[in-house]
Amino acid sequence: MALLPILEYPDPRLKKVAAPVAAVTADVRKLVRDMAETMYAAPGVGLAATQVNVHKRVIVIDISDHKDDLRVFINPEILSAEGEALCEEGCLSVPGYYDKVTRAARVRVRALDEHGETFELDAEGLLAVCIQHEMDHLIGKVFVEYLSPLKRARLTAKLRKKQRLAG
Ligand code: NI
Repeated sequence: MALLPILEYPDPRLKKVAAPVAAVTADVRKLVRDMAETMYAAPGVGLAATQVNVHKRVIVIDISDHKDDLRVFINPEILSAEGEALCEEGCLSVPGYYDKVTRAARVRVRALDEHGETFELDAEGLLAVCIQHEMDHLIGKVFVEYLSPLKRARLTAKLRKKQRLAG
């Protein structure tokens, strides 16, 4: 296994749209394992392949207290969404920044697992938020894009400055 570098907003590669996985091969399973290790090490509760510069529709999530409930979503699709939830979100690609985003409160999702088996899942609460947040990454969208243009401009300027100093 390997830790993968995580892209940081506003890196333009975070805007790439991920392609569907044609078949869940050994390479895809290795990607899943590396993504899980990277997520746990960060630490975070979710990671999309886009964030590690792999533009395939793969997500890993673990919202459990003991980090022993890894959920893998390959080619995820939202089948239905209902309700509204306002939740404070953070992102491994926007370190140190948290803000509230409105999302659907409940979603039904269909995906493939790491064995290539199709499953459907009803999610609510943090899991529903996480699924929507990570699926946004797969279409090139970072949660800060839901903020007002002014807030986002301020944040982007701050992050660019920080990245210049670090680089
Ligand atoms: Ni994120």
